[in-house]
Amino acid sequence: MKPILLAPSILAADYGNIERDVRAVEAAGVDCLHVDIMDGHFVPNMTFGPDFVAMLRRITRLPLDVHLMIQQPDRYVRSFIEAGADTITIHLEAYHDVGRTLDLIKSMGCRAGIAVNPLTLIEKAEKYMKRVDLVLCMTVNPGFGGQPFIMEVLEKVRFARLFRDQNNLNYDIEVDGGLTADTIGPAVVSGANLIVAGSSIFGKQDIPAAVKLLRQKAAEANAAG
Ligand code: DX5
Ligand code: ZN
Repeated sequence: MKPILLAPSILAADYGNIERDVRAVEAAGVDCLHVDIMDGHFVPNMTFGPDFVAMLRRITRLPLDVHLMIQQPDRYVRSFIEAGADTITIHLEAYHDVGRTLDLIKSMGCRAGIAVNPLTLIEKAEKYMKRVDLVLCMTVNPGFGGQPFIMEVLEKVRFARLFRDQNNLNYDIEVDGGLTADTIGPAVVSGANLIVAGSSIFGKQDIPAAVKLLRQKAAEANAAG
């Protein structure tokens, strides 16, 4: 079984105190930082560009898990990798040649992920699943933090796990959106091992306690099977 990795989403951090918040999750022992890049086209919201990723790279050694919610991601992956991304995840739905974009990411020595929105069939991503390092099943419609978890997506998580097992693959299965102390258990039991959490980590007063609670719930779910 893969270890459970926790990825706090910087989207929910206090932008006036980014470094303080990053230190808090580092001290709490998280595994990486999830960075949501939004362009106002692919999703109705805008966030950060490559300079922001470069700033994070300067202040932390945590791996940077960069989630591109942008159209034509092939035009920008190079900048985000040069800025210091360790993993780049692109959306299947983002108007580009998915195979070529994945090749570009891999050719630069970066981990590559494929993401699917809640309404996209996971089978549409199947042809790419043998060449990625990560499969991201969005558990909310991308664009905003703090939305409720869509339970039906867990069927896709189970599919991704089965496909990985049947084909002797090794990709991480990531879930993103609405992960809380209540939803992390079902996600882990279904096969997710890379857990993104914005509001339920940075949105909490006591960040170490929030991380500890999520870890505990994930471990309980794993033990219960
Ligand atoms: C949503 C983003 C998520 C977001 C999750 O479009 O991809 O990464 O930060 O936020 P929470 O955990 O608050 O649902
Ligand atoms: Zn995300």
